[in-house]
Amino acid sequence: MSAHIPPDDRPPEPALNIAEIQECLITLQLGHPLLYYASIDSTNTRAAELAREGAAEGTLIVTDYQTSGRGRVGRPWRTFPGKMLAFSLVLRPNFPAQFLVMASAVAVHTAVLTLGQLPVTIKWPNDILVADRKLCGILIESSGDYVVLGIGLNVNGSFAQHPELAQQATTLEQAMGMPVRREAVLCAVLTSLDRIYGTLRSDDQAARKALWQQWRERLTTIGRTVDIVQGERHIRGLAVDVDDDGALLVRLENGTQHAVTWGDVSL
Ligand code: BTN
Repeated sequence: MSAHIPPDDRPPEPALNIAEIQECLITLQLGHPLLYYASIDSTNTRAAELAREGAAEGTLIVTDYQTSGRGRVGRPWRTFPGKMLAFSLVLRPNFPAQFLVMASAVAVHTAVLTLGQLPVTIKWPNDILVADRKLCGILIESSGDYVVLGIGLNVNGSFAQHPELAQQATTLEQAMGMPVRREAVLCAVLTSLDRIYGTLRSDDQAARKALWQQWRERLTTIGRTVDIVQGERHIRGLAVDVDDDGALLVRLENGTQHAVTWGDVSL
């Protein structure tokens, strides 16, 4: 295990304890090597650069503060310095992309449940919600022979001072009523993801099916009315199920059914 810690002249407080992360990280593949940045524009951007330079599968980039964090559909992703988790993994999966979407969501969901009995669910395809408020967003970007999996998880602090987000977002601290060690959350997520990723890599069809089932059971989207934005296109209907490839099956008001493979979903 190695930790390369590039210099940075503006470390926010409290900084992540990298030694503690290395101690609790008992993963086979994910998280090695580990690169820590006190502050960086976006861990996904850095991970993509490293992937293009040939970084090993499992390389983890983690930061205390993102200055230009990126979310899905071109949105910015905001983090409170020293309070959230923002990290990215360089991956080279040998299985279809939709299983990485499911794996990442199930891994975070599982990790959050190890911390406490929280009302945690997955909003299709891979947002993690607690009591219907967003706790974690996942951005998967691929190019050439690599995939970057970026996870932003709201650990400590509160959105109470941010009225524009307070109704939509939450943190683990808000949900649990006490601060949570970010190092422990990171290790829990990576441990869970490492296990799932290993089974997917082994090309085990039964493992894929089991993952799909776990993901489907945890989706809060099924059975609810959804608004989906796909660029200029809006789709509104009842989410009735997901298909074997993970597409969301939406019944429109005119009775027709659509298999939705991408888009921004509101419940
Ligand atoms: C979303 O919009 O729900 C996805 C948010 C993903 C944010 C994470 S934070 C770590 C990684 N680096 C980024 O710039 N984005 C992802």
